[in-house]
Amino acid sequence: MTSEDRSALLAALAWQVDLGADETIADAPIDRFASAALPPRPGDARAPATAPRARPAATGAPADARPAPQPATEPPASAEIAARATTLTDLADAMRGWEGSELRKGARNLVFSDGIPGARIMVIGEAPGAEEDRTGKPFVGRAGQLLDRMLAAIGLSRTADDPATAVYITNILPWRPPGNRTPSEIEARAFLPFVERHIALAAPDVILSLGNTPTKALLATGTGIKRMRGTWTEHTASGLPLLPSFHPAYLLRQPADKALAWQDLLALKAHLEGRPQ
Ligand code: URA
Repeated sequence: MTSEDRSALLAALAWQVDLGADETIADAPIDRFASAALPPRPGDARAPATAPRARPAATGAPADARPAPQPATEPPASAEIAARATTLTDLADAMRGWEGSELRKGARNLVFSDGIPGARIMVIGEAPGAEEDRTGKPFVGRAGQLLDRMLAAIGLSRTADDPATAVYITNILPWRPPGNRTPSEIEARAFLPFVERHIALAAPDVILSLGNTPTKALLATGTGIKRMRGTWTEHTASGLPLLPSFHPAYLLRQPADKALAWQDLLALKAHLEGRPQ
């Protein structure tokens, strides 16, 4: 292979990764346009594929003999579905079945939550990454391991049985965005009713919001995390105290800001111990 061939192949690969095709899921490529008879993937509620519609022949038939146009069937809005959930299990099932987002088609697993429902603290992150998509659990990759260490430093853990030291963890998006890209505002807004319902059902005392995506969505603000972090505020929908802080993935890239994150953790601990700062 010449060096030009190699460069062209690497450029084609980089292009695919940019498009979000960054994981091998089968030994050989599948041409989904050619394979109309493929069975749906698990969890894929799409209607069975049908043969392409034939173009109507130009018969000269009068216009009123043509079939009436069918109204497009839109998936119900997330708010409508979320409002019907009366338990966390209901909510997870409803989210798994909701067809209102394309993200669902590119993800392997719904990433709903981890930790103890009923914990005093609900941690809300951005969206699952590759590891979370594979396991169906939030914050299990490198950023998640840092989050666990940060929480442990103030005596909290997602595996604790005692609600006083336990945490409950979720994300704004339950499906992994392709290529781990940042969720768009439209995506965050689409899933927000599920998150609001999730907060109502998990009933924490306080919310720890990690990074720009959850902070902007939960507070309906355009202000970035650098200005918002460390200041207690009120979650718009529930009125619960909410503390914005840096996302652990950001802290992995900017370790110098761990000192600020540590101040936020101490503020969280003080709040939980009834000595607000
Ligand atoms: N980043 C997030 O925001 N959430 C996860 O679950 C993992 C990484």
